[in-house]
Amino acid sequence: MIKKEVDLTPEERAMLQGSSGEAASKAMEIIMALARVYGARKLVPVASAQIAGVSYMNLGDAGLEFLLEWADAGAQVCIPAMLNPAGMDLTAWQSLGIPRSFAHKQRMVVEVYTAMGIQPTCSCTPYLAGHVPEFRQHLAWSESSAVSFANSVLGARTNREGGPSALASAMVGRTAEYGLHLDDCRLAHHKIDVRCSISSLSDYGALGYLVGQRVSNGIPYFCFRDAPWTGTTWGVGELPPEPLISGLKLLGAAMAASGAVALYHVDGLTPEARMGDMLASDAKIMRIDDLSKGYSALNSPVNNIDLVSIGCPHASLDEIRWVGELLDGKQITSDLWVTTSRNTREEAESQGLVECIEAAGGQVVADTCLVVSPVKMLGYHSLATNSAKMAFYAPSHVGLQVRFGSLEQCIQEATTGKWE
Ligand code: F3S
Repeated sequence: MIKKEVDLTPEERAMLQGSSGEAASKAMEIIMALARVYGARKLVPVASAQIAGVSYMNLGDAGLEFLLEWADAGAQVCIPAMLNPAGMDLTAWQSLGIPRSFAHKQRMVVEVYTAMGIQPTCSCTPYLAGHVPEFRQHLAWSESSAVSFANSVLGARTNREGGPSALASAMVGRTAEYGLHLDDCRLAHHKIDVRCSISSLSDYGALGYLVGQRVSNGIPYFCFRDAPWTGTTWGVGELPPEPLISGLKLLGAAMAASGAVALYHVDGLTPEARMGDMLASDAKIMRIDDLSKGYSALNSPVNNIDLVSIGCPHASLDEIRWVGELLDGKQITSDLWVTTSRNTREEAESQGLVECIEAAGGQVVADTCLVVSPVKMLGYHSLATNSAKMAFYAPSHVGLQVRFGSLEQCIQEATTGKWE
């Protein structure tokens, strides 16, 4: 088969040839390489970029060097661009026990990105911090749960970009038009018939874990027999109300972790499923009768828990409020981190929610995520969480034994120090 060359506009051709500087020309080369690999016929303008590869724990000195080279070449973004979580809370790192040497390198990473014009949002939920993409808007986002949420819940269009390709898109405002940017590639080929009820946030995660494992990088179309959101409505281009927004972010995050699901539809609920038939005629059917296999696969036999983690993906304001309500009048014995964006933390602080959690002994931690922070250096060995994504990654990425359960179970554990 003869591959057609990528059709560039005069402006794109000029950028490739260096009209916008050396860094933009290098960025165009990265995007063109992806376009050729995936058979894209043209590039599309993107409204924003969300860039992974921020934690110094993952980047190391080689990654920092790579960023400094881009900065030396004059890298500057030309569209709104945001960062994924860093390896620490950028202001309260000392109170978390982060070593000074790590903090120094982490701050350098964020400073290099900021000098390029990127907003140091350091969050995997930019849509909860004012960056809500429009329906059908093209994006270049890289964090898997954010990609899933943008595609599925908001009906925007993004492939899962790597850190360098999202950075390249931020610099030239384009991405290659392939995959989820195209109508035909957004049809679901797996119908998921959910027969059991979904009664807690962790149930969304357990369901996502089971489905992600089975469909891998496919697109599932959920049909819920007992839909917990019956009667809930919201406009296209808007965020759904709670607790749905938290449930859907946990569902998508889990499927992106146990599989590589970047888009899902929910019958009668998500925007594209509301507007048209998104289920392929030859879709395979999978039935889910109960979630117990998901819960048992994500639990290890550990009873003494060092750390309770809530906020994967980063907690919404309501999730922080629910934690505060569960802790009211109690003192915790395990450590508790509620991870969130700096923006949401500030909002929670202004409403007295941070004070309430701190009074019980917990911490509301901004800018970071346990999976990309040096938690082993902090002496933690076991973790309890209500996030299936966190439960899936913590054993392999940071070597912690994990308990996975509802928010109520996690907070109960934090107060007693024992997983019941
Ligand atoms: Fe976000 Fe980290 Fe979870 S990036 S989705 S808090 S693993």
